[in-house]
Amino acid sequence: MKYKLKIIIGSTRPTRKGPIVARWFEEIARQHTNFDVEVLDLKEIDLPFMDEPEHPRLQQYTHAHTKQWSKTIDEGDAFVMVTPEYNYGYPATLKNALDFLVKEWQEKPMGFVSYGGVSGGTRAVQDLKLPVTTLGMMPLPQAVSIPFFTQFINDKNVFEGNEALINSANLMLDKLTDWASALKQMREKGNEK
Ligand SMILES: Cc1cc2nc3c(=O)[nH]c(=O)nc-3n(C[C@H](O)[C@H](O)[C@H](O)COP(=O)(O)O)c2cc1C
Repeated sequence: MKYKLKIIIGSTRPTRKGPIVARWFEEIARQHTNFDVEVLDLKEIDLPFMDEPEHPRLQQYTHAHTKQWSKTIDEGDAFVMVTPEYNYGYPATLKNALDFLVKEWQEKPMGFVSYGGVSGGTRAVQDLKLPVTTLGMMPLPQAVSIPFFTQFINDKNVFEGNEALINSANLMLDKLTDWASALKQMREKGNEK
């Protein structure tokens, strides 16, 4: 059984490094074979600041961009956020993308690939767990944390992770498979009720 994995790139600024990190992880995820992989780049998706009049749990969306985002996230069985750390937290783009929806995220697992200086983006990830759990998702403790991440980017702008990073990515993908399977069954049971 293949699960639909959506990798979300959280940074959107012009000289961002997020896509370079995401490309490396995407490659490992594609080799993992348990997933159909899609990359969602929040810069390309270009959601405005949350602009729906009703609470998203009602799913009474009025804007085409929300309907499209709802469809995209609803299809997913598992997610991985690729996040930098901005001022000891996660970028506002990720909070905004989360806030647009409720049910589409619920009972699905979320993994994290974070990058930064000495912290490797771990403070951003800890911070993300609050909205992620509030939305009823399962945030994985197995994560890919990349400290001083620019050391892994070569002169061709390609990220070359070392063995420890590759192992942590594969471990997270293994756990993501288990949770994707368990939570898919849970969602299906819930739908039968
Ligand atoms: C607004 C801003 C705040 C930042 N704050 C942190 C921080 O708190 N911790 C950290 O490790 N790096 C921080 N950095 C450095 C980032 O790790 C680095 O710029 C990284 O490339 C950001 O990801 P991006 O290029 O995908 O936007 C910050 C960078 C920016 C632009």
